[in-house]
Amino acid sequence: HKTESGPKGGKAERFTKSGFILSAIGSSVGLGNMWKFPYITGKHGGAAFFVLFIGCLLVVGLPLLLAEMAIGRGGRGDAATAFVRLSGSRYWAGMGLFTVVTAFAIMAYYAVVAGWTIHYTIASFTGSLYRGAPNYEIVFNDFAGGYWPLFWQAVVMLLCGAVIARGVSGGIEKFNKILIPGFLILLLILMLRSLSLSGSSAGVSFFLEPDFSKVDAESVLIALGHAFFSLSLGMGCMLTYGSYVEKEQSLGGATMAIGGGDLLYAFIAGLVIFPTVFSFGLEPDEGVGLAFMALPAAFSKMPAGFLFGGLFFLLLAIAALTSAISILEVPVAYAMNKWRWSRRKAAVVVSVLCFLVGIPAALSVGGPLTDVSLFGRSFFDLFDFATAYIMMPFGGLIVTLFTGYVWKSVGEEAGLRGALFSAWLFLLRVVIPVVIVLIFLYSTGLLNL
Ligand code: PHE
Repeated sequence: HKTESGPKGGKAERFTKSGFILSAIGSSVGLGNMWKFPYITGKHGGAAFFVLFIGCLLVVGLPLLLAEMAIGRGGRGDAATAFVRLSGSRYWAGMGLFTVVTAFAIMAYYAVVAGWTIHYTIASFTGSLYRGAPNYEIVFNDFAGGYWPLFWQAVVMLLCGAVIARGVSGGIEKFNKILIPGFLILLLILMLRSLSLSGSSAGVSFFLEPDFSKVDAESVLIALGHAFFSLSLGMGCMLTYGSYVEKEQSLGGATMAIGGGDLLYAFIAGLVIFPTVFSFGLEPDEGVGLAFMALPAAFSKMPAGFLFGGLFFLLLAIAALTSAISILEVPVAYAMNKWRWSRRKAAVVVSVLCFLVGIPAALSVGGPLTDVSLFGRSFFDLFDFATAYIMMPFGGLIVTLFTGYVWKSVGEEAGLRGALFSAWLFLLRVVIPVVIVLIFLYSTGLLNL
């Protein structure tokens, strides 16, 4: 087959097979796996929820993941370019651009949170996090309300920008090839430590004991929404990564590997977190409350807790950074194609802009801009809410309707034939659009359960 050329006429950038799988797992394994999945599982029926979540991955997550990657590889371009090439209509550029804007907005505040994790990693390894038996709510609020988060946000943007500037195989792929396997090893070490604590079994029961009475309609929507978020769908991430995949690679196989990887990391994270939390008699929680308040309290009481805590925060930082890189690549790829910029220039300009746009988010979690509100929310909450609840579902809708109704030869690109293809098409045309609308109505509060 003839060698395809890149946007500036040079050789097109491509992932190796394993490099693609590991980078896509790097994108999907993020803070969602580490601080959200374990908690929603524990709260909604343990193993019963786990089974439900696998069902949601199969019916909604994986079909949509395959569709996004197929659009990227079939259209060989950034989110906007790929839609236009496959549909033959300029009108679709706007739809693609929408996902690029979504990615940019997510990156602006995701970098702030990623920055917090780096600060906590260092504070734990040096032991300063544990000095003087502090109250961890106050510790977090003091930190997040100050100016240091800006510094760490800049560090994150610099790091992500530098990795991306080195290219797909020389940067993104290398970074993930080292960090994602390393991540698994560290996670397993932490799991052994956590399971060996006395009283850890209460945590395992909270996380996994099946309780079907806790599974209700709300659990289903939460599982669906999380399957969507956890696989990094609806914002052009998997599409952009897909545009760097060789034609020979099986997208169906990649879909299964990415889904399996995402599930595995989330599962082990649960076996790290709850045994630790329960063994020190703390309340289970999710998000900021879990990672920056409950867990530091547990580490402070554990022998060599600074070490295990440091490793834990390091894992959070890796999870956040490998996801952040996939998010930043979306607008960078767009800028390269749209304005014919070199990769290096696009990486620098987009990173700087993203940093500037993220400043209000960094300063509004207890900081000087906390009380400034837009649409009734602080900047940070607005970024979070608008992207996760409104823009990502809309992006998912674009992808599913495009593959279901507009792009006719999608089956060939995805490598599906016969009954499997028909089933997939049915999911994309009917089931997934309905599900996305329901998730949207539920998460914006328009639908009450
Ligand atoms: N999938 C990531 C997680 O589980 C979050 C993410 C969303 C990353 C969208 C990239 C794009 O945390």
